[in-house]
Amino acid sequence: MRVLFATSEAFPLIKTGGLADVSGALPKAIRQLSTFKGDIKLVMPGYSAVLAKLKHVETIANIDVLGETCTILTGTIPGTVLDVIAIKNEALYERAGGPYSDENGKDWLDNALRFGVLSRVASLLCSANSPLPNWQPDLIQCNDWQTGLAPAYMKLLDNSTTKSIFSIHNLAFQGNFHANWLTRLELPAAHFQINGFEYFEQISFLKAGLFYADQLSTVSPTYAQEIQTESLGFGLQGLLQTRSNDLTGILNGIDTQEWNPELDTHLPKNYSNQRITGKSAVKKKLQQQLGFQIDAHAPLLGIVSRLTHQKGLDLLPSIMPQLINQGCQFVILGSGDKALEASFTDLAKRFSDQVSMNIGYHEHLSHNIIAGADIFIMPSRFEPCGLNQLYGLAYGTPPIVTATGGLADSVTDTNDATFKNNTATGFVLKSVTSASLLTTIQRALKIWKDKTDWRKIQKNGMSREVSWEFSAQFYLDLYKKTLSTH
Ligand code: ADP
Ligand code: GLC
Repeated sequence: MRVLFATSEAFPLIKTGGLADVSGALPKAIRQLSTFKGDIKLVMPGYSAVLAKLKHVETIANIDVLGETCTILTGTIPGTVLDVIAIKNEALYERAGGPYSDENGKDWLDNALRFGVLSRVASLLCSANSPLPNWQPDLIQCNDWQTGLAPAYMKLLDNSTTKSIFSIHNLAFQGNFHANWLTRLELPAAHFQINGFEYFEQISFLKAGLFYADQLSTVSPTYAQEIQTESLGFGLQGLLQTRSNDLTGILNGIDTQEWNPELDTHLPKNYSNQRITGKSAVKKKLQQQLGFQIDAHAPLLGIVSRLTHQKGLDLLPSIMPQLINQGCQFVILGSGDKALEASFTDLAKRFSDQVSMNIGYHEHLSHNIIAGADIFIMPSRFEPCGLNQLYGLAYGTPPIVTATGGLADSVTDTNDATFKNNTATGFVLKSVTSASLLTTIQRALKIWKDKTDWRKIQKNGMSREVSWEFSAQFYLDLYKKTLSTH
């Protein structure tokens, strides 16, 4: 079985969020399954960071894609045997700033073309005109809107025999562009309609993926249900309902080489479920680095997140003073919403020895927060899967979450029954409000004070199966199902 995995980011080459974690880990995990007989390659844009990090790079071909001359390169991800097909086009991809936006956070104006080219190359690799003619994929897995046009090109332009899966990591990002782009993207105008890639008079990359792919998947069973409803369907619930039989929800796993307290090279001390003592050394070092009082009895609450409406962290600032009064310490890492950045910065100024606000993206600090904090806070309004709560579970840092998407599927609230039967792993809000967040944090703190009870919750989380191996098997089943569709 040859599988092409199309994505706009992959750890450790380039990362803005969970999609990179999944793209870096899932193909690797599938390859390692003893039941998988085949090969997987990634296809992605050759951003500067990607070109700098790829190993064993070879030039395969120069091709014309949507009027752009692109060089197709192959290489491997450092430390792995995973092959990557990178699309090199200096003007499109080698820019200062992020993969989707400039240094000020403003979306690149030519994203339609940048990801149109990604989608078109992915589809060409599955066609008779492939730049890699000796490697014809049986199946392509496309991820999020950036690759959504690939299934459309495959059906409408190439008559491709390769089967396709479109995986939804976040329905909120849709890649909707003005109809003026039709010609430039070489999309047949006849399909710019409701039974096609048109969405409220715009070209929708996301809808194209949902409409034309043979099978659909998303990153948790609960989110697979939620996106078929008006409240979380972002206007696409009707289409998703009609494709309900083709939609599978598979919970993400974690890369246990990258996210493992026993091996994590970012930590000053490693620890495990059997030998948890090292965790307090990580907390101590973190408290010291942040300029907090070094105190094992002060609860340290951690946050690592994009600061957007989705993540619900705007519920936190108003209740922080009360918790700070009770002795809580807060370490926040993230960026996004400027007003929210400012509220946390303001609190960090007022309570500099109890609040630390770190704006930006820091891999090293993120590992130390997940490991060093006592409790991880993630009150998302919606969450397709979420990886940080999984990292929290694996690191003995019980998460406080809302009952949505992958959070509902991965965290079990602590109550009398779940505590007794050893299934309690975290704390779930009753509603998405500041009041409920406060009550839930207070509930967690009360148990935290009893070290024996807390240890039990940590143990439950740390022994929960969160590795990719488990989820990869479900993807392999989906691959097989997709290959048998007509
Ligand atoms: P999403 O993809 O919606 O942002 P996830 O929880 O699935 O949410 O994944 C987020 C990933 O990005 C995690 O690996 C998390 O550790 C990482 N991350 C988010 N913000 C930062 C940051 N500011 N610095 C470092 N890592 C971050
Ligand atoms: C998206 C979602 C997040 C998910 C990640 C990887 O960014 O917001 O919930 O974990 O994709 O699938």
